[in-house]
Amino acid sequence: MRISVIGCGYLGAVHAACMAQLGHEVIGVDVDAAKVELLADGRAPFYEPGLPELLDEAMATGRLRFTTDIAEVAGARVHFVCVGTPQKRGENAADLRYVDASVTALLPHLAAGDVVVGKSTVPVGTAERLAERVVAAQPEATVLWNPEFLREGFAVQDTLHPDRIVYGVAPGPAGARATQVLDEVYAGPLSDGTPQVVTDYATAQLVKVAANSFLATKISFINAMAELCEATGADVTQLADAIGHDVRIGRRFLNAGLGFGGGCLPKDIRAFMARAGELGADQALSFLREVDAINMRRRVRVVDLVREVCDGSIVGRRVAVLGASFKPDSDDVRDSPALSVAAQMGLQGARVVVTDPQALANAERAWPSLTFAATAQEAAAGADVVVLATEWAEYRALDPVAFGEIVAGRRIVDGRNVLDPVAWRAAGWHYRALGRP
Ligand code: UGA
Repeated sequence: MRISVIGCGYLGAVHAACMAQLGHEVIGVDVDAAKVELLADGRAPFYEPGLPELLDEAMATGRLRFTTDIAEVAGARVHFVCVGTPQKRGENAADLRYVDASVTALLPHLAAGDVVVGKSTVPVGTAERLAERVVAAQPEATVLWNPEFLREGFAVQDTLHPDRIVYGVAPGPAGARATQVLDEVYAGPLSDGTPQVVTDYATAQLVKVAANSFLATKISFINAMAELCEATGADVTQLADAIGHDVRIGRRFLNAGLGFGGGCLPKDIRAFMARAGELGADQALSFLREVDAINMRRRVRVVDLVREVCDGSIVGRRVAVLGASFKPDSDDVRDSPALSVAAQMGLQGARVVVTDPQALANAERAWPSLTFAATAQEAAAGADVVVLATEWAEYRALDPVAFGEIVAGRRIVDGRNVLDPVAWRAAGWHYRALGRP
């Protein structure tokens, strides 16, 4: 199948490479010439485990190309829209300008029988609106909504072996034809038995934001329990283990700590609330306001803990922050809790040095006022307190004895509840964490 992928960011670049891997002939399009140049050279423009190898393989087959010229999509039968939908400046709603611009650019190149497949996370109602525009430009083209559930850090695996495939289709024969075409694209994963849900546009769009809202709620739930644990001397990690044994609850996504960040969960729950308001259903989602508030409180709480271990003041204190990305195995710093904490402490007078195995370049671009170091050891040299903010494997594996030799004061705030308090305390550290005694 000839396929175009419009937007080659965290979602599109991986999708393009995976579609080529599945045997399709793929053209990836992006307006960012530097990104296209890297991709055309077989290099990943961001850190994603497995992507460089996949790009190498796919480029070698000759089935994968990248361009800035949208006209090159002509001849492709399926066009995946994979552009970003960030939060609008100063508002909760999603900014759809990139989705609208990419569809506008695509319209003149559409042929009869083409399927435009939306993968971007959009407010419910967007697919219907775009479908009208597509059909007005090319009456025999169709829109199909196919939300994406990949996680950064596992993007290749999640794309090649998704846990479900959801289609939102137009009513009638047009929807049935589009379903057939996309089934051909996903023939590999479908033949592996991947569950498939074929539904209407509205449901498909809601599935995506409902899933992310549920995940965000699960994290904020356990973080609310962490607040209770702090008030009572209980241990939220043991509490999560214990309730997680109930299969109806499950242990995954019950890790209390600094909370969720990134380019998806925070902006998706806000955009969902904004859309519910427009639809007159804001009451249904008012709990998400609390989910958001609990999450943001975690960042303030970590700064407070640092202040507590520094005997009441962080002014002039040297703080090492381990981690800048919003989660491990990613270089994405969008709404990163780690950088939010680092910046707050900097503004409150601490001398903060941030390190990260992969995200330093992005972090420096986003927060030029912060100081950065290449390694945990460099960041911690002479530090009064260390904050573990992103649970990269190399930080989890730090030896408290050896690390204790580097710092000026053995104080650590474990923002992700991943270190062994017994081992760190035995090595002479003042260990504090969220929701643990
Ligand atoms: C999230 C969803 O998990 C994906 O299914 C979805 O496709 C994606 O958003 C998207 O909408 O594109 P992602 O943003 O890559 O994926 O990251 P997650 O693994 O969901 O983690 C989000 C945040 O929650 C991170 O900051 C992580 O540290 C935090 N988190 C996660 C916790 O604080 N506790 C947990 O138990 C789990």
